[in-house]
Amino acid sequence: MAYYRRVGDVPPKRHTQHRKPDGGLLREELVGEEGFTGDSSLLYHRGVPSALVAATPWDPPETRTEPNHPLKPRHFRLHELFADADRDVVTGRRLVLGNDDVRISYAVAAEESPLYRNAIGDECVYVESGSGTVETVFGALEFRTGDYVLLPRGTTHRWVPREQVRAYCIEAHSHIGPPKRYLSHRGQFLEHAPYCERDLRGPDEPLLAAGTEVEVLVKHLSGGRVAGTRFVHPQHPFDVVGWDGCLYPHALNIGDFEPITGRVHQPPPVHQVFEGAQFVVCNFVPRKVDYHPLAVPVPYYHSNVDSDEVMFYCGGDYEARKGSGVGPGSVSLHPGGHSHGPQPGAAEASLGAEAFDELAVMVDTFRPLQLGEGGLAGEAPEYAWSWARGLGNL
Ligand SMILES: [Fe+2]
Repeated sequence: MAYYRRVGDVPPKRHTQHRKPDGGLLREELVGEEGFTGDSSLLYHRGVPSALVAATPWDPPETRTEPNHPLKPRHFRLHELFADADRDVVTGRRLVLGNDDVRISYAVAAEESPLYRNAIGDECVYVESGSGTVETVFGALEFRTGDYVLLPRGTTHRWVPREQVRAYCIEAHSHIGPPKRYLSHRGQFLEHAPYCERDLRGPDEPLLAAGTEVEVLVKHLSGGRVAGTRFVHPQHPFDVVGWDGCLYPHALNIGDFEPITGRVHQPPPVHQVFEGAQFVVCNFVPRKVDYHPLAVPVPYYHSNVDSDEVMFYCGGDYEARKGSGVGPGSVSLHPGGHSHGPQPGAAEASLGAEAFDELAVMVDTFRPLQLGEGGLAGEAPEYAWSWARGLGNL
């Protein structure tokens, strides 16, 4: 995220005296990636960001997983996981899939979350539906249906829904950002990128909050496993009067992603929106489809030998999956080792189509995924056999 932003009150020269109205020094904090060699921002706190008065264990939502064995394509119905919304976006998550590079979980929430920061990696939360505010140490960020909310590692924040929120949470063990091929060597979005700086939204003003003995839930690794700690800070961590830099929470709406189409079928990388270490995020948005007179608009069968492919169907009508039971709220897992493609009849049905009204978020991981308790709880086990149905006695 090499896109400079300045919010609130910052001094003209970095690492120089910056004072409160009472004459006391503000505390400068550098938040940066990759030691001091990656993107960073400088924040100016009223208090001391290091100050702690207690640290106790916190049990984050279940993160244990089971192997996908015997190997099968899978279908999980996320809309069946929650009967109500009396939980929050942080502690209410249920793990669908995960490995040592990324975890995908889902929450339906209407409550305000605790203060929280993820010390393992960046989070990318796709808002399937709902709206509200993510309050962060950098300021407030409004969100709405279709937003990707990107929260850099270590960002203290909380989710404040305005209504029921359905959140598809992608937690990395790394950083998440635009594909490098979309960027100039100095970090500007290039002309062929399907979105650019104008489509990104960040905090506009400082968010100052008062309070003492303030709890923050921290997700981190301990002994190689996901663990949690409850910090108590003597003062509220939202005490930043200003900041500037290239590292901050921001949002991109999926409706601002401009699809790239062609005369014949375009491969999934044209749909890529973000990348992390050992995984990518792509999205399939409503678009005109292939316009060669003999085009087959749905995908060809593909054996993605180097990746497990996770598709979250979040709107419209997904043409290639017709007849499989997949619908809004479904997640499919197409693992390496299985060749997947359209269900029987879908290719024929797509001939002559001019446009697809489909919305899906895809995560491709380069190492196999394991199954989380939320995924297994919502599994539709007949999916693995759906391509064989209707084929007759072949
Ligand atoms: Fe695929």
